[in-house]
Amino acid sequence: MRINKIQKLSSLIPSSNNCKIIHAPSDIIQKSKSLEKQQLWSFFCKIFRDMCGKELKKDECTIANLKVLFLFFLRDKEFFKCKNLRQDISVASFDKGILIIGGYGLGKTDFFKVFEELFKHYPSLKYKFFTSKELVHKYEICQTPMDKKSFFKSVERNLMFIDDIGSERIGSNYGKIEVLDEVLSHRYDKKLVTYASCNYTNSEFCAKQTLIDIGKRYGGRLHDRLFEMFNIIEFEGVSYRR
Ligand SMILES: Nc1ncnc2c1ncn2[C@@H]1O[C@H](COP(=O)(O)OP(=O)(O)OP(=O)(O)O)[C@@H](O)[C@H]1O
Ligand SMILES: [Mg+2]
Repeated sequence: MRINKIQKLSSLIPSSNNCKIIHAPSDIIQKSKSLEKQQLWSFFCKIFRDMCGKELKKDECTIANLKVLFLFFLRDKEFFKCKNLRQDISVASFDKGILIIGGYGLGKTDFFKVFEELFKHYPSLKYKFFTSKELVHKYEICQTPMDKKSFFKSVERNLMFIDDIGSERIGSNYGKIEVLDEVLSHRYDKKLVTYASCNYTNSEFCAKQTLIDIGKRYGGRLHDRLFEMFNIIEFEGVSYRR
């Protein structure tokens, strides 16, 4: 069922044979034999335009950052050849989730909002977008042990994206708690696939050090689990806010 849905979407988006098409979006229009492929790429650009109120810049960095994500969602083996997939840090697999590590302003948040909208009609790809701060807030407003139980039940959803892990403050609700540590560990235990993003924690822009720093904050137990939970994808480029 899951595979079928993914294949259905896969038939709409440029696949491994013509993944160059993703590299050169304007080519999609010219070379695509099927209207659907053209429609889907257009769909991403259109949703981006509608949500962000501007055109997606299709420069080399954006294309590389989007390409690895498209190939992942399509379960296209070309995914394993992407240079921003850090296979030296974590063994890549379609069974894992994805952790995007990168600098500020590269589209981590907006792209995952666009994908959330885009995948709404594909049950196997559909996910809900959360921010780490929002999860801390949801935990902090729990008034009873039952509410806390419901909170953890609510993060048992099949697929979820958590933006900006590590940027949230420590939760406080009759005691201090690292909410994200709890949420991610809970999802690990339940074998649920998670998508997440975080910024570099260091001025050297080192992804490995970022993971070490996440481990320092949440503890070695979670640090070790990150490698089993996530494909590590490093976004490239400089901030589009400038
Ligand atoms: N390829 C692009 N073309 C046009 N605008 C872009 C592109 N990529 C990102 N942006 C814009 O740059 C701004 C920053 O994007 P976004 O907030 O998604 O980045 P981010 O990686 O989540 O940054 P941060 O780490 O600071 O949270 C947004 O206004 C977004 O719409
Ligand atoms: Mg962001």
